Amino acid sequence: MKLVERQQGLDAELFSFHDLWHPQPFREPRPQWCERWPSLFDELMGLPETDIARLNDDSEAALALLARHIPAVSTLASLAELPVLQGASLPDRGAHWAWEIPGRKREQIEAFAAAAGQGRQPVLDWCGGKGHLGRLLALTWLTPVHTLEIDAGLCTAGEGLAQRAGVRQEFVVSDALTATAWPQAGQHAVALHACGELHRRLIRDGVAKGVAAFDVAPCCYHRGVAENYQAQSANLQLSLTRDDTRLAVTETVTSSPRETRQRDRAIAWKLGFDTYRRAVTDDVYHNFKPVPEVWIRAEFADFLGRMAEREGLPLPSASVVAEFEVRGWQRRNEVMRLSIVRHAFRRAIEVWLALDQACFLAERGYEVGLGSFCNRRLTPRNLLISARLA
Ligand SMILES: C[S@@+](CC[C@H](N)C(=O)[O-])C[C@H]1O[C@@H](n2cnc3c(N)ncnc32)[C@H](O)[C@@H]1O
Repeated sequence: MKLVERQQGLDAELFSFHDLWHPQPFREPRPQWCERWPSLFDELMGLPETDIARLNDDSEAALALLARHIPAVSTLASLAELPVLQGASLPDRGAHWAWEIPGRKREQIEAFAAAAGQGRQPVLDWCGGKGHLGRLLALTWLTPVHTLEIDAGLCTAGEGLAQRAGVRQEFVVSDALTATAWPQAGQHAVALHACGELHRRLIRDGVAKGVAAFDVAPCCYHRGVAENYQAQSANLQLSLTRDDTRLAVTETVTSSPRETRQRDRAIAWKLGFDTYRRAVTDDVYHNFKPVPEVWIRAEFADFLGRMAEREGLPLPSASVVAEFEVRGWQRRNEVMRLSIVRHAFRRAIEVWLALDQACFLAERGYEVGLGSFCNRRLTPRNLLISARLA
């Protein structure tokens, strides 16, 4: 399927199902779709606790559940399914190239380099940290590499590793959001997990400056988005808020049972506080500042009192505290179930965001590919935008 056809298809489908994925059950206890699709609501409410985490994390499985009630959503599954980029196997890079890289990160970097293919131009490794990716490319593509990174300490560490590996890799300590000297015409720009505006700026400025090739694996799409996401490519109906772009990256990081219990308690208590606030003020959601972790480790009564005081609400009397704790847990159980609907659209939103950058590059004369460069178990942020100036 051509990129632009995929983009137009996803755009239309996501636009038409906006009412399913946009509402956040944490803020909106009963999204409108609950009334419109009562059988879906009933199935979700009846789900055993053991299915909840899996369905919230696996958007394909969640979409399949939704499709039993709303068959039209199944089109999204094929539109969001991208080719797997096979990549050539990497030439021998010596036994020690990966000093100091944790195993999973090393596998991501090797998969990225293999999928990106052989480059001929000098490489710019954008927001490169210690420059592990840049070092691997210098070793395997035998090309000079500049690694741009804001953190001087990471650059110094990276210089040491580059020297040990004997590669031509220079570090540039610079802010990728304001650097004017980079990127440069004719370079091959690579970016592995440069967050939000950092990868978008690379693509925007790189196109304007005549960068010859891009390989970009985006992440944290919401970073640098003020209220609304500014689409780059043409002819889109959908417009995303910052929170919508956040939906693309909401998988829970694998956590221990203790961490899961702690996270559930935090959700339940915050919802208990929200329920209290709705009871004593108005029945709408209000944002609140992050809650200090120690407050969640205390008793619920202390937590509720501190939150009420901080948010300028009347202090709860001792007789009502237990009721709001119970209601918080009830809402937690509902929110986790209702969120499955929103999370069913996670991958489709992510692919829409990546396609926006990919189609922008295609509109500017690049030959562009979009696919996944590694298994999602290695990193869920596994999309790779590959573009070559035609
Ligand atoms: C998620 S890490 C990825 C690092 C590397 N590409 C990798 O995959 O190992 C993001 C990197 O971006 C850097 N960074 C954040 N903001 C930056 C900025 N404004 N300019 C340049 N680098 C930045 C961080 O210091 C960090 O090293």
